Amino acid sequence: MVIRRLMEQDAPAVSELIITTIRISNVGDYSAELMEELVKTQTPEHVLQRASWTHFYVAEEAGAIIGCGAIGPYWGKEDESSLFSIFVHPDHQGKGIGRAIVETLEKDEYALRARRIEIPASITGLPFYRKMGYSFKNGNAEIDEEQLYRLEKYRSNGMNYTIRKVTIEDYDALFDLWSSTEQSRRALNPVDDSREGIARYLKRNPDTCFAAVQGDRMIGVILTGHDGRRGMIHHMCVHPDFRRMGIAACLVSAAEEALKKEGIQKVFGLVFIDNEAANAFWEKQGYSLRTNLNYRNKSLNASIPTGE
Ligand SMILES: CC(C)(COP(=O)(O)OP(=O)(O)OC[C@H]1O[C@@H](n2cnc3c(N)ncnc32)[C@H](O)[C@@H]1OP(=O)(O)O)[C@@H](O)C(=O)NCCC(=O)NCCS
Repeated sequence: MVIRRLMEQDAPAVSELIITTIRISNVGDYSAELMEELVKTQTPEHVLQRASWTHFYVAEEAGAIIGCGAIGPYWGKEDESSLFSIFVHPDHQGKGIGRAIVETLEKDEYALRARRIEIPASITGLPFYRKMGYSFKNGNAEIDEEQLYRLEKYRSNGMNYTIRKVTIEDYDALFDLWSSTEQSRRALNPVDDSREGIARYLKRNPDTCFAAVQGDRMIGVILTGHDGRRGMIHHMCVHPDFRRMGIAACLVSAAEEALKKEGIQKVFGLVFIDNEAANAFWEKQGYSLRTNLNYRNKSLNASIPTGE
């Protein structure tokens, strides 16, 4: 079996492969009517159209095309990519061809330049993609209106990691991360950052707080919430061993996307003036410095200092 780039003359065979696979494999998880609607779109012209803006590969054995898959930019972005059209002929499934196709796609330049790779996954493909290291996008394990799961894989310096929602079960790992980092430790207070305080925050903001994890290890976090008008970011932190790999930037993107979904148009964060790394980071993320405001606050609890 060889995996090579699609040539124009392959388009009819690829179209046929996709249609056969949908009719035999995907139909077990979807209605026959929906699959026939999908089949109608999978023409050779559609294959070539997709290949015009992606890198489209085919798996070939004994002169027959038995698998395919493509990778291209995610909505035109240069640092995010998406996998498409991954199909293995039903007669050749379970022999490692799907894995070989995904591994080929992950070596393509569209994968190498991406910090995040997304897959719109069918119900049928879900267990396979999970095995290939893809997780539910932003921890959302629900099927969308197109009847697909959105999966993703984050990669940096050859390392894979996941971004998922924070839950209160993460408390100990989060507290360890914050308290082992000087710039985070100085922002902690015994009431808001107690288990109860964080549980209260997560209860109010269940869909906008994200953790970066590698296996079971907590490597980064961002707490984000809103009051129905403004978004606010707290306690962003990346473990020192994993800095300058773009992880905080990915956490901020996930938080911004989640806020937008909740109708929030503007977001802010507070940064100690002498925290050079964080100020450089926020500048890079497009967070401008407001110099026409004074930050005024008042403690409502005698055990929490107002600050200087
Ligand atoms: C601030 C912090 C979260 C950044 O995390 P990170 O994962 O290293 O950041 P990223 O890799 O996503 O950085 C993205 C960009 O931000 C800028 N940046 C990040 N850290 C920087 C630093 N130390 N100096 C200058 N620029 C920096 C860079 O432009 C970087 O891109 P580049 O590496 O391609 O140049 C991390 O330094 C940290 O945890 N600090 C301690 C806790 C803290 O201060 N939190 C902020 C509270 S407001």
